[in-house]
Amino acid sequence: MHTPVLLKEIIALLKIRDGDVICDLTLGGGGHSKEILNSLKKGYLIVFDQDKRAIDEFEDWLEKNKFSKKSKGEFAKGGVKVKTICDNFENIDIYVKKAGANKILADLGWSSDQLERIEGLSYLISNSKLDLRLGSNLGVKGSDLLNIWDQKTLERMFGEYADFNFFESKALAKAVIEKRKAKMFETTDDYKSIISKVFGNKINNSIFSRAFQALRIAVNNEFNILINLMKKSTEVLAKDGIFLVLTFHSGEEKKVKAFIDSQVKKGKVDYILGKNKDKFIRPSLSEVKQNIRARSSKLYGFVKK
Ligand SMILES: C[S@@+](CC[C@H](N)C(=O)[O-])C[C@H]1O[C@@H](n2cnc3c(N)ncnc32)[C@H](O)[C@@H]1O
Repeated sequence: MHTPVLLKEIIALLKIRDGDVICDLTLGGGGHSKEILNSLKKGYLIVFDQDKRAIDEFEDWLEKNKFSKKSKGEFAKGGVKVKTICDNFENIDIYVKKAGANKILADLGWSSDQLERIEGLSYLISNSKLDLRLGSNLGVKGSDLLNIWDQKTLERMFGEYADFNFFESKALAKAVIEKRKAKMFETTDDYKSIISKVFGNKINNSIFSRAFQALRIAVNNEFNILINLMKKSTEVLAKDGIFLVLTFHSGEEKKVKAFIDSQVKKGKVDYILGKNKDKFIRPSLSEVKQNIRARSSKLYGFVKK
């Protein structure tokens, strides 16, 4: 089961009140959304996930919790309406009109159950297909990218998506190309073997994890989508609307910070978190002890002016 990160803090920051239109862009196991529904007495919750399984499970939960189904993806109980959307969150502007929402939450990455269910996401699962697609509608798998991309594109993937240095990125890209001449990439073990070869006795779990992260970001086009999402979210937020985003690695964080900084400069938004120049909050030590996935998370937030 997926444990939601910074749950209490996020609910407090959302300052939920009657009439709110709240978008949870990353439903996952529904941890944040279920807690939002506990506090929302009158209003509208719109949830997104590109993984159909997450949407199906949440709809089952809604029905078990006495929400009545009005039509496909539309549920209601008392003064609360819920809409479920199985789509990429970068399409938020198709479903929510300009200034149509006043709270938006994005908890980036994958949920714990996806790590076991979606092949190739975890380097810990041996001989699993190198798929790594988080969305049911995506066409290109991780193995396809490793089998097709040229040296320069692979180097960029390792450098930009997982902070490997210039020499490491070059060596990894070269090893990918050498390996596929003999045998095309198919499984997690194929990919792990070249990572181990490049790093020799310096290999460790963090290196495997970063190399798999780079491929996941590439397959799901995560950085471009994150930038689109932030631009469009700012448009669909009403004045004084709140945007919260949980990042899990430096690549996501850099994109989020650069976007908010640019909007602050233009006078469009203000940061709402962090006491000093940090501008983010992190989970407490006790939360990290209970939920290891929380350890690298940072919550950023802004309010629209
Ligand atoms: C970290 S989990 C969310 C966990 C959730 N907040 C909870 O507490 O259970 C991230 C979810 O976002 C979804 N997701 C990731 N990228 C997405 C995108 N571009 N569009 C829609 N959903 C996405 C994933 O499928 C995953 O279910």
